[in-house]
Amino acid sequence: MTLEDFMEEYKTLTPKSKALFDKALCSLPGGVSANIKYYEPYPIFMEKGKGAWLTDADGNRYVDYLGSYGPLILGHGHPAVNKAIESQLEDNGTLLYGTPHELECRFAQKIKELYPSIELLRYTNSGTEATLFTLRMAYAYTGKYKIGKFEGHYHGGYNQVLVSVNPDIASAGDIHNPTPLPESKGLEPYQLENTIILPFNDLEACTRILKENQHEMAAIIMEPIQSGYIPATKEFMRGIRKVTAELGILLIFDEVKTGFRAGLKGAQGLYDIKPDLTALGKVIGGGMPMGIVGGRKDIMMVTAPVKDSDVFDAGTGKRSSSRDVLFHSGTYNGHPLILRIGLAVIEVLEKEFDSVAARTGILKKELEKLFYAKGIRILTLGEATVFNYAITESEKILNYRDFQKSDFTTRKKIDFALFKEGIYNKPTNRYSLSTAHDDKIIDFTLEAFKKALQRI
Ligand SMILES: Cc1ncc(COP(=O)(O)O)c(C=O)c1O
Repeated sequence: MTLEDFMEEYKTLTPKSKALFDKALCSLPGGVSANIKYYEPYPIFMEKGKGAWLTDADGNRYVDYLGSYGPLILGHGHPAVNKAIESQLEDNGTLLYGTPHELECRFAQKIKELYPSIELLRYTNSGTEATLFTLRMAYAYTGKYKIGKFEGHYHGGYNQVLVSVNPDIASAGDIHNPTPLPESKGLEPYQLENTIILPFNDLEACTRILKENQHEMAAIIMEPIQSGYIPATKEFMRGIRKVTAELGILLIFDEVKTGFRAGLKGAQGLYDIKPDLTALGKVIGGGMPMGIVGGRKDIMMVTAPVKDSDVFDAGTGKRSSSRDVLFHSGTYNGHPLILRIGLAVIEVLEKEFDSVAARTGILKKELEKLFYAKGIRILTLGEATVFNYAITESEKILNYRDFQKSDFTTRKKIDFALFKEGIYNKPTNRYSLSTAHDDKIIDFTLEAFKKALQRI
């Protein structure tokens, strides 16, 4: 069957999603609330979730491997999450205080135990906000205003980092010296001058570029495991830590995906590397919007309010200059309900993380066997609870460009064939497992792949 045949099959399976999509087109640009949710011919509209399963508007049931792009590491509707939601209202009577509260400290303590590079932290409402604040901290701390960012790495939806996330390789220039390419319409042209693009897993080229820019570069920001499944080599990671420290450039780990996914202690635990600043998100909110920016005390203290820094004192002439303090505020920061859910998630993970990682490992191995038996060579990529696979003859995938060379047509055919077999993921996306993906679900998944591979 061709990819078009599989798409026709998809349309027969999901007519109500098509009707809802047509309706959505009348109110939302492109019919979606986030561009990432769109794919051809139209996305499936889900209605219910339970454990590892999602049910769509047509009543089709699927094992969910999207995990809402990562946060749902306990699956859908986990009792610990449900209980946290109910007891917040029962015990505390409200969702928000608008004041400091005890859980802000308790949650912070837990994060600091697991992520020793984080000496102080602040809460944000998303991963995007968390990485944004790491950059503002870096500018404020170093007095420099350029950043280094890796080709193919995603850090959220704002201007400084919307550069060379999914660049067209034909326009992306020399692999050792990538050209910054805008990831969006509407970026100010100067943005491309202030974001220097670095090649992932290429220490020699990175060292050269960092040395050339050391006097202007405040920090480099990186996904230690690109897109959650292309790991930095240990040697690269050690080298990057060393050279940034030597050159006075801060090292920021964006662990929004890898935090509580690549390991309970994140990628930094796995590599045993201490970044200067870290951004966390996704899993820590257990399905609710949440982020954390944390790191070295001397850097984090740039945002601490000092005497007379209350913005409402502006008219009294008493206020210390806003130049002295890094602005960080937000109505929902440290949201009591979300912190309660997040803490419940971490407590479950402390007991069950290893078994999710073990089952992910088994699924990867068994998939390799299935594909090989079918005469298709794949590389499985990723650490612990997240993986992806590439259909490729290459021995290694070390960066965005390597992954782009894999066979996306066959991959898409398999992904569309899998919808009919009851497996949900956005086509070509990585697989995120949860505590609900038990042995039965793994067996079901392998059977589904077997059938899909027979049909492609
Ligand atoms: C590595 C990374 N950083 C930042 C973000 C942005 O997080 P959010 O979508 O919560 O704003 C994401 C989201 O996918 C991410 O994967």
